[in-house]
Amino acid sequence: MMTTQITINGSSLEVTANPARRLSDVLRDDLGLTGTKVGCDAGDCGACTVLLDDEPVNACMVPIGRLNGHTVTTIEGLDASGEVQTLQQSFLAHGAAQCGICTPAMLVSAAALLRRNTEPTEAEVQDALGGVLCRCTGYRKIVAAITAAPVPFPVIPAAPSGKAVGHRATRVDGLPKLNGRDIFGADGAPADALVASIVRSPHHRAQFELGDLEAYVDNSSGLVAVFTAVDIPGNNRFGVIPATADQPVFAESEARFRGEAVAMIVAEPGAIASLDLEAFPITWEPLNAVMSTEEALDADAPRIHLDRPHNVLTRGLVQRGDVDGSLNETNVIVEGEWSTGFIEHAYIEPEAGHAVRVTDHLEVSVSTQSPHLDRRALAEILDLEPEAIQILPTSVGGGFGSKLDLSVQPYVALAAWKLGRPVRLTYSRPESMRATTKRHPSQMKVRLAASPSGKLEAMDFEGTFNTGAYASWGPTVANRVPIHAGGPYIYPSYRARTTAVHTNGPPAGAFRGFGVPQSTIAQEGLFDELADALGMDRLEFRMVNALTEGQPTPTGQVFQTGVGFRDCLSSLRPHWERARVEAAEANANGPPFLKRGVGIAGMWYGCGNTALPNPSTVRIGLRNDGRVVLFQGAVDIGQGADTVMTQICADSLGVDMAMIVRIGPDTDTTPDAGKTSASRQTYVTGNATALAAASLRAKLLDLAGAAADAHIDPGADRLVVHDRGNKRTVDLRTLPADDFGLVAVAEATYDPPTTPLNENGQGDPYAVFGFGAHLAELCVDTELGTVRLVRITAAHDVGRAINPTLVEGQIEGGIAQGIGLALMEEYLPGRNENLHDYTIPTIGDVPEVINILIESNDPHGPYGAKGIGEHSMIPTAPAIMNGIRDAIGVTIRDLPATPDTVRAAFLRSL
Ligand code: FES
Ligand code: FES
Repeated sequence: MMTTQITINGSSLEVTANPARRLSDVLRDDLGLTGTKVGCDAGDCGACTVLLDDEPVNACMVPIGRLNGHTVTTIEGLDASGEVQTLQQSFLAHGAAQCGICTPAMLVSAAALLRRNTEPTEAEVQDALGGVLCRCTGYRKIVAAITAAPVPFPVIPAAPSGKAVGHRATRVDGLPKLNGRDIFGADGAPADALVASIVRSPHHRAQFELGDLEAYVDNSSGLVAVFTAVDIPGNNRFGVIPATADQPVFAESEARFRGEAVAMIVAEPGAIASLDLEAFPITWEPLNAVMSTEEALDADAPRIHLDRPHNVLTRGLVQRGDVDGSLNETNVIVEGEWSTGFIEHAYIEPEAGHAVRVTDHLEVSVSTQSPHLDRRALAEILDLEPEAIQILPTSVGGGFGSKLDLSVQPYVALAAWKLGRPVRLTYSRPESMRATTKRHPSQMKVRLAASPSGKLEAMDFEGTFNTGAYASWGPTVANRVPIHAGGPYIYPSYRARTTAVHTNGPPAGAFRGFGVPQSTIAQEGLFDELADALGMDRLEFRMVNALTEGQPTPTGQVFQTGVGFRDCLSSLRPHWERARVEAAEANANGPPFLKRGVGIAGMWYGCGNTALPNPSTVRIGLRNDGRVVLFQGAVDIGQGADTVMTQICADSLGVDMAMIVRIGPDTDTTPDAGKTSASRQTYVTGNATALAAASLRAKLLDLAGAAADAHIDPGADRLVVHDRGNKRTVDLRTLPADDFGLVAVAEATYDPPTTPLNENGQGDPYAVFGFGAHLAELCVDTELGTVRLVRITAAHDVGRAINPTLVEGQIEGGIAQGIGLALMEEYLPGRNENLHDYTIPTIGDVPEVINILIESNDPHGPYGAKGIGEHSMIPTAPAIMNGIRDAIGVTIRDLPATPDTVRAAFLRSL
């Protein structure tokens, strides 16, 4: 131990600690300064950035013993001094914080930049923030916020009464994200909480035998308990889809993937670091692992689950018309095969949470996208009634689908329940990457037929998706892809078949788009080849074949309104024509090794569950102090659900946003608003919010004896209603109130009108589809194989933009993830389990983005709105891949298009 004199946020402190301890740990654990976040503990993500003297540094890489006499400033210090007030205001106004886990580090880095350069250029901002990763925003709004900050940015005015929908309202949950006080999964555990650590398989497939666990506990100082499969009181299985729930909390004798949990160690705080984890008594016998779908489908392959022949989890099918006939007639035929790999979600917040047992009640605070699903799963595992368990979602530092599945929940819950003490668990970055779900790797074969005049005649799609060792969302991917594989185009004949295949890879689950980003790469890639074979302009070919109102989709569904795809394509036409001219000029006049290209791709995506019930319930009440209380169970994972629901509530009720307070999400308090996935919250929970607000409005008008068009004006302790020149006042303190102080309450449920699909995949799987198209302008260095993005133009039919700033933020964030999918990301189990070797786009990788919002006013959406979360990333990668083909004249079919792949493809084209 060593005592170090440090000035932290202006106060001189003596810190006594092991000199090798990380500054980030001292700040967070000893001083409670949890605004400094930890995303990797390895110097890769920048989330822990603080100022050391005047320089931004990664606090996780600074040993405390080196800091004697130095000054450290964290986000809390910058906030308290007021130095970042303008920056914070600018971040709020620009929508530069989404989940907020990276935001403190962005602000700290920006503050350091602005100290030495009060008017930085975009390039200077990119240089200064290059070491801080953000997985949500696409960085563009961060750059805009910082370059605008020197001139105090105008505060976004409050939405005019009755006009909250469509207003660029700032996030209602924004402030804590900007001052470092937001509580994420790793931030809120009691100081005396025990610490859990999971023993995981180091092998892709292995049998194992546990040794003398009691002796290990007895001989390990600070070790409180070890738990294994025999300690599970209920069902040692979980899975997001009950029919295919197959993943053990702890493997029982065989681990099926590298990173699978086999045991849990629980120790006193501070003791884990000194435990000899190598001495944990377990003997491994590695077995032959099946890592590819080809191997897994082989008749001689080991069966990963005995009840799933040929290692097939499930199959999906959508078909109509005579595909084989169309592919054999006098049409123009093209075909090709594509593949993509595992993609890691790479949210900056690793999985984290804690649990506390209070007599027979278990409180689980966790970073999750699906609190009610979590509760049901934990009840099964612990053999408890669901009501005995309360899920309290913390702020979520990015989810993108993976935090729909259980991660730390069963472990902290089991240990806290059994030991009667608070228990916390935070995954390390390598653990997070090994143990949690990924995007499905895909292998896709596509054939397309078009008439010589350019009309699509048929598509035949076959996709094999590697769903890894456990089912997770594999059935959802296998069922969603066949519906979407053709894109938003008209096909007289159509057949799309999918197979989800088990391997000994990590479980593949939900990740922004549920397989549609993969299939769109193949479909849109082959569209360019077909357009070229037909001698047609690539945009024109899409326009000619675009789905329109009144035409059937491949499942036979017909929309009479709300199909804005052609409008998206039309809006891109001037950009397409300009970009083509600019690319041709650059190629004619620039150095021959630089090749400019332009790519375009369309998309569609059905909002919500596929052909399944999908309800959300919302409750709204008027409190006796005059405030409207919105019980909001939809988890805001950065996309802005808290703000969007508040805007919808305000207009549907007829009050100002400022009168609304939110409660939740909390499974004991807020009704089930379903999971935050499949771009469903704005649409489904938004509708439930509008219905509940309308119902409450009717009750309040009734209470005041006012007409339906009266104006409601809640004030302190009273409800004032202006009704055709009359002012009616109700003293709320005189009314009976419930436990929350509510004097009037309304609750409403909305479930999208869908129908099940028949054996040919025919039916109405979604009530609402969102549409979009992206245009990618890029430059390929054919000598290095690198791809420099020049600009992305993104057109999306969002139905109605409830909050245009939030919509743009989703689009830009989706584009960044699409860039990663196209150009750099592939998770290789055992090889790149960190954010150094697994690279995601940095601030310098996302080019200018031009957003075009199309409002088709969907008849099912609240105020016409559709979802945008998944939609935004789907067309980016195919547009980029098509741009590369345009530049170098050859299609890259195996992603990602890393420099070696691009260079090899270019050489093949010569
Ligand atoms: Fe320090 Fe990632 S936590 S760089
Ligand atoms: Fe940057 Fe979420 S807002 S990681």
